[in-house]
Amino acid sequence: MTIADELQATIEQMVQPGKGILAADESHLTIAKRFAAIKVESTEENRRVYRALLFTTPGIEDYISGVIQFEETLDQTSDDDILLPEVLARRGIVPGIKVDKGKGPLALSPGDLITYGLDGLAERLQHCKSQGARFAKWRDVYQISGHNPTSLAISANAEMLARYSAVCQELGIVPIVEPEVLIDGDHSLARCAEVIEAVQKEIFHALHRHHVVLEHIILKPSMVLPGKDHSVRASPEEIAAATLRVFRRTVPAAVPGINFLSGGLSPEQATANLNAMNVGDAPWLLSFSYGRALQQPVLQAWQGKAENVGAAQQALLKRARLNGAAQRGEYQESMENTA
Ligand code: 13P
Repeated sequence: MTIADELQATIEQMVQPGKGILAADESHLTIAKRFAAIKVESTEENRRVYRALLFTTPGIEDYISGVIQFEETLDQTSDDDILLPEVLARRGIVPGIKVDKGKGPLALSPGDLITYGLDGLAERLQHCKSQGARFAKWRDVYQISGHNPTSLAISANAEMLARYSAVCQELGIVPIVEPEVLIDGDHSLARCAEVIEAVQKEIFHALHRHHVVLEHIILKPSMVLPGKDHSVRASPEEIAAATLRVFRRTVPAAVPGINFLSGGLSPEQATANLNAMNVGDAPWLLSFSYGRALQQPVLQAWQGKAENVGAAQQALLKRARLNGAAQRGEYQESMENTA
């Protein structure tokens, strides 16, 4: 199989109607925060038990086509001693890996952020591939203020995402390109639209300069939303209209799939917004790559207790099913009341 065939096969398995991606790639710091909220200590064993719970949930393969993992998970096993990436692969779910090394301040550019992780990236990707990963994720983060992100942050981060994507594709790994424009702040929907338009325009320009094949990437963006402290709320229809207007302007139709992050939305909001986007026609498959919006109800049901594993898996299956319906534009709020 050529590299191009390999990338194409991964895309076809991941980008399917009614299916999306589970983001289970929380860093040690982030998973510790999520566990602390339910009073569970973040030990290696607890993280293994929790991720095994997620990955062995009966029926999720009907709605989940890929899972993004954190490095540690690639070496961990299920209770019956099968490596977790293998658990996914056997169910037809593509195993993936987060490869960026997190964000920090962009030097000499107050309020802007930059993502680390290009050094040694090819070697790390090759190792992850040998452990079963077939796609990767890299997240750039943009904060909105009156003057951020600056044009420097927009161009520097685009360059990072493009270089990462090129390294992935050279090795036969599908890159998830994730520009997260944070929901924090009191900015308006219009201001968020302006920022996302500028960010995505620059990213696609950089991907082109770095010879990245657009048919073999998945975009994982933020929805166009008012800031969480803004005085005016927006309906799912307004969010969908604003998001699609920006995306038609900035994302070439060659991109097969756009899988949104949930970025601090509640599980119900994330599902309703995705559904609203799928009511009309779009050139790309619009789906989900949710972390918190899929996992919050699971953590609540689990509470770190073995006797709650079944209920926690039911909670995951329910959110996966409702988001699968939203991918098809078939979700209704009344479906929240069914098990
Ligand atoms: P959220 O859906 O919780 O935003 O997480 C998705 C993700 O992978 C962020 O990088």
